[in-house]
Amino acid sequence: MLNPQIITIDGPAGAGKSTLAKEIAKRFGYTHLDSGALYRAIGYAAREAGIDPADEEKVVKLAKTLKIELKEDRVLLNGKDITGKIRTPEGGTLASRVAQHREVREVVVKILRELAKGKRVVIDGRDAGTYIFPRAQLKIYLTASPEERAKRRYEELIKKGYRVNYREILKEVIERDRKDASREFAPLTVPEGAVVIDSTGKSLEEVLKEVEKLIDP
Ligand code: C5P
Repeated sequence: MLNPQIITIDGPAGAGKSTLAKEIAKRFGYTHLDSGALYRAIGYAAREAGIDPADEEKVVKLAKTLKIELKEDRVLLNGKDITGKIRTPEGGTLASRVAQHREVREVVVKILRELAKGKRVVIDGRDAGTYIFPRAQLKIYLTASPEERAKRRYEELIKKGYRVNYREILKEVIERDRKDASREFAPLTVPEGAVVIDSTGKSLEEVLKEVEKLIDP
């Protein structure tokens, strides 16, 4: 497993997937694809257009017209930087709602496969190893206890200046897990052949040590 072309990182909300993916990208020279950012961008665009996220037909029609770009860790929607606007608790909820639709997922998968062409990519999401890149050479399933994940989200949001309540965040984390795992199409599960890493009580460095062994034994 010296030089995988594609590394997938799946797992529940707040497990630290995107932090890990960014670090892998930096250390090993991969392009990071944040699949959640695409759902967030679509959810945001739907809200801006006054479209109900539950209206699959309208959301799909809109999604097909959007130009979404991932530039380093910025997200551009039709050329406009919307990063700050989508990385909010509301952005997560909207993303989760539009991500329920099969056809929306198909639009996103098409974009992601296109973005990955000819590149070494590390992609984080919920279905990266099961559905987007089922033949990826290295699949990681990163998890942590709901309490730990809620604590991380809480601290991150407080740092960003939000006034949030830990209990509320924990409730949201549990609800998002339930939604992601019970979704009919491409639900969150441990991909076949994935290495499961539990990051509860571990620092990013400790998790990276485990990953490094997989990439460069
Ligand atoms: O990873 P992030 O928190 O940005 O994702 C936001 C939401 O988008 C998730 O809670 C999930 O519902 C959805 N999502 C998904 N499949 C992915 C990535 C994200 O369903 N591959």
